[in-house]
Amino acid sequence: MSNPLREDLVSPSQAESCTIVIFGATGDLTHRKLVPAMYNLAVDGELSPGVKILGFARREKSDEEFRSGLKELNEKVSRSGHDSEIWDEFEESIHYHQSTFNDLAGYQSLAERLDKIDAERGAKGNRLFYIASAPEFFDDILENLKAVGLSEPKEGYWSRVIVEKPFGTDLPTAQHLNKVVNQTFAEEDTYRIDHYLGKETAQNIMVLRFANAIFEPLWNNRYIDQVQITCAEHLGMEGGRGGYYDKSGALRDMVQNHLLQLLSLVAMEPPTDLTADGVRDEKVKVIRSLRKLDTPEKVKRNVVRAQYSKGFVNGDEVPGYREEDRVDPESNTEAYVALRLHIDTWRWSGVPFFMRVGKRLPKKATEISIHFKDAPNVLFNALPGSTPGGNVLVIRIQPDEGISLRMVSKLPGTTLRLEPVKMNFQYSSSFGKGSPEAYERLLLDSMAGDATLFARRDEVEEAWKFVDDIEHAWHGDDQPEMADFVAGSWGPAEADDLIAEDGFTWRRL
Ligand SMILES: NC(=O)c1ccc[n+]([C@@H]2O[C@H](COP(=O)([O-])OP(=O)(O)OC[C@H]3O[C@@H](n4cnc5c(N)ncnc54)[C@H](OP(=O)(O)O)[C@@H]3O)[C@@H](O)[C@H]2O)c1
Repeated sequence: MSNPLREDLVSPSQAESCTIVIFGATGDLTHRKLVPAMYNLAVDGELSPGVKILGFARREKSDEEFRSGLKELNEKVSRSGHDSEIWDEFEESIHYHQSTFNDLAGYQSLAERLDKIDAERGAKGNRLFYIASAPEFFDDILENLKAVGLSEPKEGYWSRVIVEKPFGTDLPTAQHLNKVVNQTFAEEDTYRIDHYLGKETAQNIMVLRFANAIFEPLWNNRYIDQVQITCAEHLGMEGGRGGYYDKSGALRDMVQNHLLQLLSLVAMEPPTDLTADGVRDEKVKVIRSLRKLDTPEKVKRNVVRAQYSKGFVNGDEVPGYREEDRVDPESNTEAYVALRLHIDTWRWSGVPFFMRVGKRLPKKATEISIHFKDAPNVLFNALPGSTPGGNVLVIRIQPDEGISLRMVSKLPGTTLRLEPVKMNFQYSSSFGKGSPEAYERLLLDSMAGDATLFARRDEVEEAWKFVDDIEHAWHGDDQPEMADFVAGSWGPAEADDLIAEDGFTWRRL
């Protein structure tokens, strides 16, 4: 059922017709996320007519073979299910181009193929290059695109690039990558994906804060005690993930990008407008204002890293981190990290921001909780046996997207007793339909030329500067201990001690 309140809020998509070239098109990301996202846009009627997908990868494949592999996965993972009639029409727009990433001739034939596609549909020369390959190929792909002139838009059309994570492994590699990207594409045509920003609730943080008059006056150090950002994952290193993860770790894999992006949305000042740069100007200021953790001492005091030992998750016995598939048995990589951060601005002075992220925790959940200060301790707090506690606003990013507010209420009865209650808003029940996948929104925005939900060059580099300081302390002479916790528990005791130093506890999820 459509929601009448919503009709006037829905703006028509500005996405333009284009050819999307996916580098690494036989890979997991294309099959599991990108093509199902495009299919669902087609189902919802959001895809401009004339959008084509051209897969680029090493294996020999015909268009038909490529389509049939994509179809097989779409049947399994598509958010809206798989409708054969819609798919049959949709797959007509999918083609395959075989080449290795470092073969210039493959890019020359790509350029010819793109011209042919344009001529066939009597259309436009808009191109979107999606680099869905491992980072070591980024340079080759970008340099070859430039060499054959594909990065240069045709007169009156556009040429854009989407770059997947990880965007570098530290500041120097990110700076190098930014240099190569910006030698090939203008910054306004560069879309660095952070799929957390495409999630409905992440987008809603700004709406919640700036479209509701009741929250913003309280959104500061006078009323907020602390903020917690949790990103818990019940999975470990299944599916060969250990090979990548063990080289990265929780800090670089999650904090540098997703968690610092969420933090900046929660803590930013109101932007002057909703343009991509208006929003990103404010977000980057938050990351710049983070108090530096630039000595081993500061890192020891404010950061806990940990690995899990074997245990049980959802009743299943699971191995310890160092026993996981493709993880070095002597690994010194963290599978969990907890941090205490301070944002040195007028608004946030004195408010600690706690973050925790880890694998093999009891459940999958990402949420932000804003903990408000207690009411003055003169009336109800003085009741015997009554500790009503403060208000907590919880923004659930995934799963079960929604927002809840914890309040204190009187328990029914003749005596005055207080109990916490929850006001709960759930996307699925309030709007009568599930949220689109993050990649749907992000692909649509990149076709529409809206980079608001993509990371800008300076955001990425500032985030790496912050994270690199911690990495240096972890790998320097005076290394802090690696804590441990039992798989299936909520992390190490050291993380509980970290938050307890400020008089708080982690929120129970
Ligand atoms: N999978 C996800 O859910 C996910 C999520 C977030 C970010 N990412 C990022 O997205 C990127 C791709 O991930 P993925 O999981 O899709 O990787 P993947 O499954 O390993 O796929 C890699 C792709 O690159 C192609 N390729 C590799 N070497 C090549 C070469 N020399 N020349 C031409 N093609 C070559 C492969 O082609 P052949 O198979 O034909 O050799 C394949 O299409 C990575 O940077 C990853 O970090 C992935």
